[in-house]
Amino acid sequence: LIVLVGFMGAGKSTAARELAAETGAAAVDADALLAERFGMPVAEVFERHGEAEFRRAEEEVVTGLLARGGDDVVALGGGAVESPRVREALREHLVILLDVDAETAWARCQGSKRPLARDRDAFEALFARRRPLYEEVARWVVPSRRGAVARAIRAVGARPVRMVWAATASGEYPVLVGHGVRDHDTGAPGRGWVVTDRTVEPLWAAGADVVVPPGEQAKTVETASAVWRKLVQLGATRGDHVRAVGGGCVTDLAGFCAATYQRGIPVVQVPTTLLAMVDAAIGGKTAVDLPEAKNYVGAYHQPQAVLADLDTLGTLPAALHAEGYAEVVKTALIAGGGLWERVARGDDVDEDVVFACARTKVAVVAADERDGGMRQVLNLGHTVAHAIETVLGYATITHGRAVGLGLLAALRLSAQDELRREVAGLLAAKELPTRIDVDVDEVLRVARRDKKRTGADVPFVLVAEPGDVRHGQAVPDAAVRAAVEELTR
Ligand SMILES: NC(=O)c1ccc[n+]([C@@H]2O[C@H](COP(=O)([O-])OP(=O)(O)OC[C@H]3O[C@@H](n4cnc5c(N)ncnc54)[C@H](O)[C@@H]3O)[C@@H](O)[C@H]2O)c1
Repeated sequence: LIVLVGFMGAGKSTAARELAAETGAAAVDADALLAERFGMPVAEVFERHGEAEFRRAEEEVVTGLLARGGDDVVALGGGAVESPRVREALREHLVILLDVDAETAWARCQGSKRPLARDRDAFEALFARRRPLYEEVARWVVPSRRGAVARAIRAVGARPVRMVWAATASGEYPVLVGHGVRDHDTGAPGRGWVVTDRTVEPLWAAGADVVVPPGEQAKTVETASAVWRKLVQLGATRGDHVRAVGGGCVTDLAGFCAATYQRGIPVVQVPTTLLAMVDAAIGGKTAVDLPEAKNYVGAYHQPQAVLADLDTLGTLPAALHAEGYAEVVKTALIAGGGLWERVARGDDVDEDVVFACARTKVAVVAADERDGGMRQVLNLGHTVAHAIETVLGYATITHGRAVGLGLLAALRLSAQDELRREVAGLLAAKELPTRIDVDVDEVLRVARRDKKRTGADVPFVLVAEPGDVRHGQAVPDAAVRAAVEELTR
């Protein structure tokens, strides 16, 4: 079965009908079955029999449906996942979370007859309680958008991989996370010309068409030119696509080449570093560096698909894994909830963690594809990180290490003592530095210059609590000095 779960107002019944039309199956609405069984609308069942009675019947009807199996598309009521028996039975099926935020759900449910949508505070409390349950059972996460579930099925097929459907103003695509997903058929057009770097080629891209030198030094206009020319020599056409296999440097470079080759051909991103899986390969920003500045020439080019195959992390050296881990911690602070809990516990970075990070990045980009506002939260920790990198030089400190330190400074500026201690512990456990020998005045000078370039009040991203991160927060210079000085002690 394909089973749709999600909060009230997510549009599960409509999506189930759309999906059934797409797959040629029948749509089954659990609430409609219950209404039939009681011989009255669900709202009336609540009034006459009480919620407990409704839940008992719901559990029976839903577990019966799930045991029956078949090809049907089932829309569950929003509360069905509160039953452990239902959650257990859902393991056998392709469960899709139709994702909606509390505000949209409230707007859609107001004035309806839904018994649990009368009081805003109670509604939001219920939303918060159920959210982790949906996340626990769902293999797929698809935003509540007209037709999105049907388009996702068309693109991916009804497969039990973990998938988040990325929807931005300029395009929609699947982000697949799991072991072995690199072989997934993405339906990208024509031939896929594989672009990779020399380190990754023998490991994960044997026989690649275009092989560039590894690392940031090669993320240049010159390398891009070499890639374009190689594509011409190979006979790549507008009907083909690029398949980028590698870390963030390869996905940025190859993505940029795809965005510009013959004015743009599709790109499939196959990230092979933790950093690229949770960050670089998702969101459609592509770029190369200039000698004067990083990521200064580029384009927004959403991929056709992202295939984050955890098998590839098996060859990643520990130091590079740690680089990505700093971004995992950043992402968990932005996301809060279950992701933060897992990361704060010091859990290993497994499929669940990578998936939750990818989801978070997808959600932020969906809200703000072109960096108008919300996307800036992704820069948490990055103002101080960039300044430290500039002062020490990219050869002395790597980006991930600088981001870890930047997070500590941002948490100090957020007056989050306890959280800062926690994050320092997490970084230290992965052998990421929590202090650094650097000239504080220099760091402040660079950080200030950075801000000027973007306007007088661009400032810091601060953390009110995990899951509540605010961009555009003005911070006094003295506080920044204290936060950076603390890093040098
Ligand atoms: N576009 C975005 O939104 C975005 C976001 C964050 C970062 N980035 C960019 O990402 C880049 C950094 O990414 P990165 O750290 O992945 O860099 P990277 O591509 O240089 O990879 C790091 C190193 O790991 C090697 N490698 C890759 N996969 C491997 C594997 N599976 N096994 C063994 N070795 C492997 C590479 O050859 C390279 O030497 C930066 O250029 C940064 O600007 C972009």
